[in-house]
Amino acid sequence: MKPVTMLDLKAEFSLIEKAVRTAIDEVLESQHFVGGSHVADFEDQIARRTGAKHAIAIGSGTDAILVALMACGISSGDEVITTPFTFFATAGCIHRAGGKPVFVDIDRDSFNIDPAKIKAAITSKTKAIIPVHLFGQCADMDAINDIAAKANLVVIEDAAQALGATYQNRHAGTLGDAACFSFYPTKNLGGFGEGGMVTTNDDAFATKVRQLRNHGQTDQYLHAMIGGNFRLNTMQAAILSVKLEHLDAFNKRRNEIANSYNELLADVPSIQTPHIDAVGQSCFHQYSILTDQRDTLREHLTTESIGTGIYYPIPLHLQPCFEFLGYGAGDFPVSEGTAKRILALPVHPMLTDADVKRVAGCIVQHQTQAIPAEATGRS
Ligand SMILES: Cc1ncc(COP(=O)(O)O)c(C=O)c1O
Repeated sequence: MKPVTMLDLKAEFSLIEKAVRTAIDEVLESQHFVGGSHVADFEDQIARRTGAKHAIAIGSGTDAILVALMACGISSGDEVITTPFTFFATAGCIHRAGGKPVFVDIDRDSFNIDPAKIKAAITSKTKAIIPVHLFGQCADMDAINDIAAKANLVVIEDAAQALGATYQNRHAGTLGDAACFSFYPTKNLGGFGEGGMVTTNDDAFATKVRQLRNHGQTDQYLHAMIGGNFRLNTMQAAILSVKLEHLDAFNKRRNEIANSYNELLADVPSIQTPHIDAVGQSCFHQYSILTDQRDTLREHLTTESIGTGIYYPIPLHLQPCFEFLGYGAGDFPVSEGTAKRILALPVHPMLTDADVKRVAGCIVQHQTQAIPAEATGRS
């Protein structure tokens, strides 16, 4: 039985190996490992691709969020609203920047922050909102920007999973005041190590991020503020530029696979397939279903050599390190319920149609066997 894995980076590499090795050789020849034209070119490519005026390469997606918050001037006592149903970095960076994460529950269909619940979380201390475009589908940005404009809040997109996603014909990365991308190897555009990017249309904000990325240096050895080493290395930029050429084709394939799963699973009432947003296009970083039989289904797929993932098993308000925020079980019921029922299926662009059919077939088989047994109380 051929395994179906959550990722196949070796297969992706085999498609681009020659161009990647040429790019690496160029960097080796230049012996220029930090900054330089490869980083500047990659920044230009991301700016052109997203339509953002500025793109500033950063060493990781996490540091992109941290430096964006620093550039906003988030400091002690400032509150930043975000979702509890995201990767840890979103909220971790709010705390590291000196702010306080304030969580707002998600929408049950999109898994993104629910704009209808944001207003109640705004206080006189609120400075920013970080919506996350989870799994590659943009948050409801019109509603979020409306609320932010009325309350004078900055909006920073956590677009770590959303390079290539669109919303109202605009790209993720241009939908708020600033945006943060990740090029972690598992992402739709994944490097051969860590990488990230901040995008913005705001000139002053871009200048600040560029300075903060280099220890707050405003002139050589002159530091107007305290930043950090948030730079992307040259080798990553050269590799990512090569991979970027394949992003559209890979995202298209992810969409085809998602559509196939949607069709193949449409008649299984115990499975909820991902909500497809009419106002934008997901880049399907993940394809996650919901089911009450999540754990037995996952076991079944494992025995069939089919990889799965759970993003995310513990919402952030229930993480031990955030106990001091004072949240408890039951505070964000949609996030908590989703965490118990969600299961990500393989959706990477190297999957064949036969792989997708086999995954869907195994799910249908499990669910049709599991449901009557549960309904009659038999084990
Ligand atoms: C939603 C989200 N935010 C932030 C990050 C952090 O990015 P990185 O792993 O590049 O630091 C990730 C990626 O892991 C992510 O998925």
